[in-house]
Amino acid sequence: MALTVAIPKGRLGDQAIKMFKSLNIGEIIDEKSRKLIFEDTEKNIKFMLLKNSDVITYVENGIVDIGISGKDMIMEEEADIFELYKMNIGKCKMSVAGIKGRKIFQEDAILKVATKFPNIAKKYFETKGQKIKVIKLNGSIELAPILGLCDVIVDLVETGNTLKANGLEIFDDMYSINAMIISNKVSYKFKRKEIKELIELIRREDEKYDKDN
Ligand code: PRP
Repeated sequence: MALTVAIPKGRLGDQAIKMFKSLNIGEIIDEKSRKLIFEDTEKNIKFMLLKNSDVITYVENGIVDIGISGKDMIMEEEADIFELYKMNIGKCKMSVAGIKGRKIFQEDAILKVATKFPNIAKKYFETKGQKIKVIKLNGSIELAPILGLCDVIVDLVETGNTLKANGLEIFDDMYSINAMIISNKVSYKFKRKEIKELIELIRREDEKYDKDN
């Protein structure tokens, strides 16, 4: 049975495509074209390039069988999907950060938190007993404290360069993040063999990736 695979566009997707190409199953993908679907009828596999935040939606709704998604998105969406394999790519962390030297956690006041991940932020600060007001942003989160929109941000940190370049620092590390292979629950029931075979191939390449990086 043919498998459909969702790949997120951007940094994570580029790494994933590189991985598929070294497995000789992603040669069909032409990143330079504007096409979003690539089908290899011989190998019985179809790749779809989606916006990072939409991968889970397509997987959950059964439009694609499996997808590569950051753990950050999985935690934020709490979707009804299976997490099948934790990858060595897409490693970073989710942290609370703010203007250097101005660590402000105000137990009795409401902390203004800017983030792309409102659900994660709400849950995290709830466990800390800190009341917050979430300000949802879609990008360039590091600008928010500088411009006075918020007290702190909850965001992904990979190299830490963006924080540093904007005079911010980490106040708290929240979670380790990595890419996951996720699957639609029905697909996993009916295409289990194909999914497991593909994951086994990916695992071998992914383990190599861990050693190389
Ligand atoms: C992500 C994240 C940080 C940055 C962290 O943003 O939201 O801004 O990368 O990476 P670093 O620690 O290596 O500097 P992304 O590049 O996805 O862009 P965005 O601002 O549009 O979210």
